Amino acid sequence: MKEYPQFTWPIISELPDQGIITCTSPSNIALVKYWGKRPVQLPENASISFTLDACKTTTSLTYRKLDNSSDDFDFELFFEGKSKPDFKPKIQKFFERIESYLPFLKQYTFVIETSNTFPHSSGIASSASGMSALAYCLMQLERKINPNISDAECIQKTSFLARLGSGSACRSIEGPITVWGEHKDIDGSSDAFAVAFPYKIHQNFEEYQDTILLIDKGEKQVSSTVGHNLMHDHPFARKRFEQASENITRLKEVLISGDLDAFIEVVESEALTLHAMMMTSLPYFILMKPNTLSAIHKVWEYRKKTNSKLCFTLDAGANVHLLYPDSEKDQVLEFITNELVAYCQNGQYICDKIGWGAKIL
Ligand code: DP6
Repeated sequence: MKEYPQFTWPIISELPDQGIITCTSPSNIALVKYWGKRPVQLPENASISFTLDACKTTTSLTYRKLDNSSDDFDFELFFEGKSKPDFKPKIQKFFERIESYLPFLKQYTFVIETSNTFPHSSGIASSASGMSALAYCLMQLERKINPNISDAECIQKTSFLARLGSGSACRSIEGPITVWGEHKDIDGSSDAFAVAFPYKIHQNFEEYQDTILLIDKGEKQVSSTVGHNLMHDHPFARKRFEQASENITRLKEVLISGDLDAFIEVVESEALTLHAMMMTSLPYFILMKPNTLSAIHKVWEYRKKTNSKLCFTLDAGANVHLLYPDSEKDQVLEFITNELVAYCQNGQYICDKIGWGAKIL
C-alpha cells in the first residue's frame, strides 16, 4: 500500500471565532481523460487537463465557532441565493471524507453560498469547480489556524481535499495545465493530488481557446461516479488504462514541442475513446446526441478545407469543447457563428480559454 501525505497539522493558534472567506475556482477540460477509479477517489490512470478561465464557481464560506463541538457537521447550503437541501448529501459525504484531514470541521457552523458563471444544467460539470472552490475556502480557514503552512503545501492539500469531493476537481486548483495521477514521465505526479504540468509549455498553447457548444442541456443520464464504476468489469479496461498512460507520455512531448497536429490526434482520440468506453460497458449508454456528431463532422470538414488546427473534445455529456490556438480566434468564431450555432440548444455556446486556477477574492 502506498503512503500518501497525511496532511494533518497540529492546531497552533486559537481557532478564529467567525468570519467569511470567498474564493473562485474554475472548471477544467481533460485532454487525457480520467475514467475509472478505485477507493477512495484514486484514478486508474493519470489524466491531464486545461484549467479553464470563464467557467467557474464562486463560493463564500461563512464560519462561526460553536461553543461545544457538534456530533455531526453543521452547515447550510445556498446555490445562487436559494437554499439547496438536495445538494447537502454530496457535501455531507465530502465532509466525512475530509474530516480526518481538517479536524476542526465539527467545531464550526458553516453557511456555504455558491454560484456559477455558467448556466445551471448547461451540461457543464459543476462538480470540478464547485468542489475545488469549497476545498479552497476550507484550506484558507485551515491557514488561519495554522499560519505556518507554506504556499506549496497549501496548494497540494487543497488539491488533495478537492479530489475527495470529485476526482476531476483536484485538477482545478492550479493552471494552466495540470496532471493528476502518478505517471513515470511526469515529475512529482501523484494519485493523491494534481500537480501543475512541470515542464515549459510551448507558446502555441498560450491563451489556448475553448469554445463550448451547448448541444444538450438536459440532465445527465449517468452520473460520473456510476460511469467510473462501470470500468471495474469492463472488457477493455486494462487496455484503456495503458492507452491513457501512453497518451500522457505523448501529450507531454506535444505540449513541450508545440506540435498541434499531434495534439489534435491525441485529444480527439481520447474524447472518442471515453465515449467508446461508455458504449461498451454493461449497462451501455450513449451520451452523444445527433448534433454532437454533426458538429464533429463539421469540424473535420473545416479543418480539411482550411488547414486550421481546430479540434474537439468531449466530457461525459453531449456538449462539444472546441479547442484552438488564440491566433485562429477570429476565423474560428466566424465558423462557429455561421455553421455550428445551428447545432446548439437555443443557439447557446460559451467562449472560454485556458486559465490559472483557484483564487481568493
Ligand atoms: C469524463 O471527476 O466528475 O470528465 O470523481 O466521480 O466526481 P467523480 O468523477 P468526475 O469525472 C470526470 C470524468 C470526465 C473526464 C475527466 O474530467 O478527466
